Amino acid sequence: MKKEINIGIVGAQFMGRAHSNAWYDVAQFYDLPFKPVMKAACDINPASEKDFSQKLGWLSFETSWETLVHSTDIDIIDICTPNNTHMPIAVAAVQSGKHVICEKPAAMNAGEAMQMMNAADQAGVKNMIGFNYRRLPAIGLAKKIISEGKLGKIYHFNAVYYQDWLVDPDFPWVWRHDVKIGGSGAHGDMNAHTVDLARFLVGEIDSVCGEGKVFIDKRKIPGTDRTGKVTADDSTSFLARFTNGASGNFIATRFATGRKNFLRLEIFGSKGSLIFNLERLNELEYYSRDDQSSEQGFRNILVTENEHPYINKWWPSGHVIGWEHTFIHEIGDFLLAIAGNLKITPDFSDGYKCQLALDAVMESSKSRKWIDIPS
Ligand SMILES: NC(=O)c1ccc[n+]([C@@H]2O[C@H](COP(=O)([O-])OP(=O)(O)OC[C@H]3O[C@@H](n4cnc5c(N)ncnc54)[C@H](O)[C@@H]3O)[C@@H](O)[C@H]2O)c1
Repeated sequence: MKKEINIGIVGAQFMGRAHSNAWYDVAQFYDLPFKPVMKAACDINPASEKDFSQKLGWLSFETSWETLVHSTDIDIIDICTPNNTHMPIAVAAVQSGKHVICEKPAAMNAGEAMQMMNAADQAGVKNMIGFNYRRLPAIGLAKKIISEGKLGKIYHFNAVYYQDWLVDPDFPWVWRHDVKIGGSGAHGDMNAHTVDLARFLVGEIDSVCGEGKVFIDKRKIPGTDRTGKVTADDSTSFLARFTNGASGNFIATRFATGRKNFLRLEIFGSKGSLIFNLERLNELEYYSRDDQSSEQGFRNILVTENEHPYINKWWPSGHVIGWEHTFIHEIGDFLLAIAGNLKITPDFSDGYKCQLALDAVMESSKSRKWIDIPS
């Protein structure tokens, strides 16, 4: 019988459900030397015991993350709570000898992210930030194409991340509107993903110039007659200079009317270009200047062939996969890294570097100046 590895998850709503689905499925699709056991779930809301813990297959439930991270029968802590809780939970968990996977953004700011990175380094445990889009097959293929030099010198990295759930002025006040809980709004939520993809695909960002906006500054607090102040950005846009000379353009907004989860990347190089859109996540558009035929143009690659990243775990060609599979890839790779004592990325140091760029954009928005990112 395989050795068991015990998981404790903190946070029982959106990401808690996405990660639970992954923990439940991962052993069916990854060859693992041990059996992941969904040992304990935790949420401050006791109603989650029935709605989340029992429903999704966790063996026990509690309301204190402190108790969970100090349990001697837990090997991995999975953090799916709001951003202001990431650092205290992650630091306590690694100091208690647990491997930690933590949702993005790493923390509220670079100072907190650095504490997480240092604590994990000292503890010598595996640690990962949930930048799940690195683990889309189309992004893996984009990385391969760029690494093989097929785009040549990269000139532009343009990233838009559009959602529209806040256009409705009656949408209620939630924790994502409070800078004291989120650190920022659309910026830390959505630009965190595209900054990580930029670092993954193109390289480090050197300096930024940006602007954050709040379009609707008060919203109704559910179940009360009161309104809550919106202190976290509804949208943040910024320009970036990469250390390799590429130019970056980023927009994250929850006010893109009609767009639901539209993350589009455009990467233009001296030899070719790539276009990716999360709402068409099985596809990658590629243009090559080497193709000098009269049919030259963007080709749309359906990234579902056996040789494409991650696809050999799934179905025959053309049998597309979905957004939830990225979490299975993330968790499967994390378990393999623990099993083989391998380096896993993106880790807490990637979370920290991403956070340095995010913080610099916020500073630029305040000062209305370009800001250099510490190297
Ligand atoms: N990777 C992605 O694509 C992605 C998508 C959405 C959210 N996220 C990230 O996931 C994290 C969680 O976001 P979400 O959308 O799941 O939020 P959510 O509001 O849906 O769920 C958060 C849960 O945490 C619980 N919680 C809050 N404080 C707690 C505490 N101190 N102890 C225990 N439980 C606590 C809440 O009761 C709630 O059940 C955030 O950091 C967010 O940025 C990542």
